[in-house]
Amino acid sequence: MNSFLNVEDLGDLQQALAEATEIKNDRFKYVEKGRNKTALLVFFNNSLRTRLSTQKAAQNLGMNVIVLDVNAGAWKLETERGVIMDSDKSEHLLEAIPVMGSYCDIIGIRSFAGLTNREYDYAETVYNQFVKYSGRPVFAMETATVHPLQAFADLITINEYSKKIQNAGRPVKVVLTWAPHPKPLPQAVPNSFAQWMMAASKPASALQTGIDFVITHPEGYELDPVFTKGARIEYDQMKAFEGAHFVYAKNWSCPGISRPDAYGRVLNDYQEMLDWTVSDRQMAVTDNAGFMHCLPVRRNMIVTDSVIEAPTSLVIPEAANREISATVVLKRMLDSLK
Ligand code: CP
Repeated sequence: MNSFLNVEDLGDLQQALAEATEIKNDRFKYVEKGRNKTALLVFFNNSLRTRLSTQKAAQNLGMNVIVLDVNAGAWKLETERGVIMDSDKSEHLLEAIPVMGSYCDIIGIRSFAGLTNREYDYAETVYNQFVKYSGRPVFAMETATVHPLQAFADLITINEYSKKIQNAGRPVKVVLTWAPHPKPLPQAVPNSFAQWMMAASKPASALQTGIDFVITHPEGYELDPVFTKGARIEYDQMKAFEGAHFVYAKNWSCPGISRPDAYGRVLNDYQEMLDWTVSDRQMAVTDNAGFMHCLPVRRNMIVTDSVIEAPTSLVIPEAANREISATVVLKRMLDSLK
């Protein structure tokens, strides 16, 4: 695996889930695999979980780890080609990338969407320059449009917590719900979550009984069909929640599909947004659903205290599974090194 951006990059999901279970049972099983290999983790944006879990994953595999916070201590990087570099950006990505590649064996990139130019964001311009110029396998630690390490951890979590439903021969109902946030956020997490849930929707593609996947959001927030193709959209949040086994809450700004003029913007007013906060009212119509969120989460905006603190809240085991998803992905990348 030379690049990890989309669900297809991982191949067979049942096999990937089996590997995740194997690693969870013995995190250091492959500790020799990464001996004398170095992972470079490049952060253009803040992180808690991705930073810690990916470092831990690399250490599980015996790798050395270098973490670079581009905006704290490094030269400010210009990412666009053709600009006259007379601003505060001292170095161009096109020199910086091959230099970074010369110090490591595998590179992870966190680089969020700018949310001003949809074409630039959805072309994955920064990530693809690392693929092209680093000479190393590259993996996404949340890029402009996707967050696959998160989505893989989410799938691992849903598989673990749905055994009873699967054993009863019932499809697992998963609802992705838009939820309020004071600032416009990228679409990377919901894009990946939708992509991975659709890949797991057919019985035996990942989970024994498959996934019945529903997305709910206010009108105007339609995600890019590249990620949601075949997914059911339900604009009535209460209807969407009926009988759900898992509720996955996330905010995202306008993806610019039904409203190209509004890409990256928040479309609704404050009061209207707060109707979408996940509370006991919506959770009451689910089938005792597990509550999921990638974190960090804004309490009483995205979700009420009572829902996130309930015994059905899965946010902590979900975050813990980030170590497992990253270990599987890094192991696969080490396997593909020449
Ligand atoms: N879920 C997630 O990616 O968390 P961080 O932004 O803290 O890495």
